[in-house]
Amino acid sequence: MTNMNTLLEQMTLEEKIFQLMQLTPNFLSEDDANLTGPLAWMGVTENMVNNAGSVLSAVGAKETMALQKKYMENSRLGIPLLFMADIIHGYRTIFPVTLAIGSTWDLELAEKSAAIAAKESAVTGIHVTFAPMVDLVRDPRWGRVMESTGEDPYLNSEYARAFVRGFQGEDLAGDLDRVAACVKHFAAYGAAEGGRDYNTVNMSERQLRESYLPAYKAALDEGCEMVMTAFNTVDGIPATGNKWLMRNLLRDEWGFDGMLISDWGAVGEMIPHGVAADGAEAAQKAIEAGVDMEMMTSHYANHLKELVEAGKVDVKLIDESVLRILKLKEKLGLFENPYRAASEEREKEVLLSGEHRAAAREVAAKSFVLLKNEQALPLRSGQKLALIGPFAESGDILGPWSIWGKQEEAVQLHAGLAARLGADIVAVAKGCEIESATEEQLREAVAAASEADVIVLALGESSEMSGEAGSRGDIRLPQAQLDLIGRLKPLGKPIVVVLFNGRPLDLHGVIEEADALLEVWFPGTEGGNAIADVLLGDVNPSGRLTMSFPYSVGQVPVYYNNYNTGRPLTPQNASERYVSKYLDMPNTPLLPFGYGLSYTTFSYSGISLSTDVLNAEDTLHVSVDVTNTGTAAGEEVVQLYVRDMAGEVVRPLKELKGFRKLLLQPGETKTVTFAVTEEQLRYYHADLQLKSDAGEFQVFVGANSRDAESKPFRLVK
Ligand code: NOJ
Repeated sequence: MTNMNTLLEQMTLEEKIFQLMQLTPNFLSEDDANLTGPLAWMGVTENMVNNAGSVLSAVGAKETMALQKKYMENSRLGIPLLFMADIIHGYRTIFPVTLAIGSTWDLELAEKSAAIAAKESAVTGIHVTFAPMVDLVRDPRWGRVMESTGEDPYLNSEYARAFVRGFQGEDLAGDLDRVAACVKHFAAYGAAEGGRDYNTVNMSERQLRESYLPAYKAALDEGCEMVMTAFNTVDGIPATGNKWLMRNLLRDEWGFDGMLISDWGAVGEMIPHGVAADGAEAAQKAIEAGVDMEMMTSHYANHLKELVEAGKVDVKLIDESVLRILKLKEKLGLFENPYRAASEEREKEVLLSGEHRAAAREVAAKSFVLLKNEQALPLRSGQKLALIGPFAESGDILGPWSIWGKQEEAVQLHAGLAARLGADIVAVAKGCEIESATEEQLREAVAAASEADVIVLALGESSEMSGEAGSRGDIRLPQAQLDLIGRLKPLGKPIVVVLFNGRPLDLHGVIEEADALLEVWFPGTEGGNAIADVLLGDVNPSGRLTMSFPYSVGQVPVYYNNYNTGRPLTPQNASERYVSKYLDMPNTPLLPFGYGLSYTTFSYSGISLSTDVLNAEDTLHVSVDVTNTGTAAGEEVVQLYVRDMAGEVVRPLKELKGFRKLLLQPGETKTVTFAVTEEQLRYYHADLQLKSDAGEFQVFVGANSRDAESKPFRLVK
């Protein structure tokens, strides 16, 4: 067995520095001659390519194995390459986007989806996934909210752990079907001002610790191997060069000794950010902040040697970074077998297997959130159905970050419904494009709808409208689609809207017109089948929102765990002027965090507390009886919230502290009991200490963050 320290000693300074580089595969597959041509202006030399530490996004076992083979042949010391890629919600079998997985409130399913994504990517030769993305998100204008599980620090932390367990398994070294996880984007990328991608982030350290950091920390506590920096500033300093963030907090305080990678080009972006005059200064700042590997730019490779020779950068920093990279390679077993799980044969067997498709269908069906239903769903047998809208026959249902997913392998809505309904679908029409409509398309839609008893209207955003660099200032559906609804509404037929999208939308113009509204996000490869399962009632919808749907973009950011202000709006003072309110819209979102309907109904009764005085060392038990009061079996997500009535710093009106997903048969009652301890009541005080305050609290139990009943208790210390 090679000892990594011995190996490090054998490396020249150049070899060490090039080890800190990540390149895309085209660099490695170029003819060597080309490096003197087009690639030369990027400052990438043949020597760098032959010694780079990692490759981003290679395609398939054949290519990764060929690249590894060629690389190893050139490697003086036999150091294998690390292959990394963005396996965010599936590799070839695409699961719903992460915001949708979040809506399942099902940690086991989240873990399972990650395990399948890991397996499918591992057999193609990938070793590391750039996931989970756990940025807390409160602004639906930001296109990347679909990569997160939402606006709550506790829920995001639970999902962060579940995803890490799924990707890495229990024994990353021994289980070749797993990949190392890389939590991102450290830190607080989700708070980009105005929801504009890559924009400034500005918040207090207290807020950072209270809301934004817990999910990254949770991923690391679960053993996540890597961290990726964020593009944004944190207190005025770009994360990628932020010493306080990476050295003091991540490394010293949290004890993280794994590999830290910059985001794509983020080292070089310190120049336009305005904190580095040139590439050399950017490289110096990044290495000093503790960034081990530079993604896609070559400032380390071009400048670190001269910086060391000039005495500006201590070679110890480079050694530390190289060692972390070598150790990850060692942990993954690459020195023994540089191909790891890569195998063309297994690829054929594993990718898009029946088992994986079935899992994707299950996760998708459970991620859908029923936002409105006036007895239009489930569809009844014998109903004649018109399927209309730009998503009726669209393969664009995989969502952003589905690089290796194939639209032609995705089950479109029409195909999913037709497999079950056949002749009951009497007409299909597109009605409009995503962002435009012709008079002819609109007329065709009206003609199609006229033949039917019920209209299934498939609307939404294209996947290009969210994801990275997918910010929108107006989060309504495009006017063409609102016009389409406007044309269909006068027919007086029930309209079931099926909504595909990557963010909470302002649903005005849709929700009032619809008789039922099913949010299906970007549902992935099995989308059409999963939607059919739910529309036909084989699966009772059980998804719940993990991000508030605003009344209007003018309220944004609007999130459930906000503060009260000194002049809170109440039913009693609503007509007064000098209260915290809008003159032209409510303060509350259209649909709150935790919200979602079912084909059955649930009632809550008998909320009881084991005590109304909680001693710091004891446990408070909060119980509630939940009954299925309808006629269908269904799953309910029982949610527990707490409010600290008077803290040293202001406290959120509600904070999620627990949840339970229950299956209840019609008429069945189950008692749910949550445990609350002093530890869960701690928060970051003005001195940044995590502690609780003795005094009054409220505990809330209910179906969502708005509709929850409360009981008081007192914490005694
Ligand atoms: C940029 C994105 O911000 C990041 O999430 C991703 O992992 C990298 N590109 C690599 O593709």
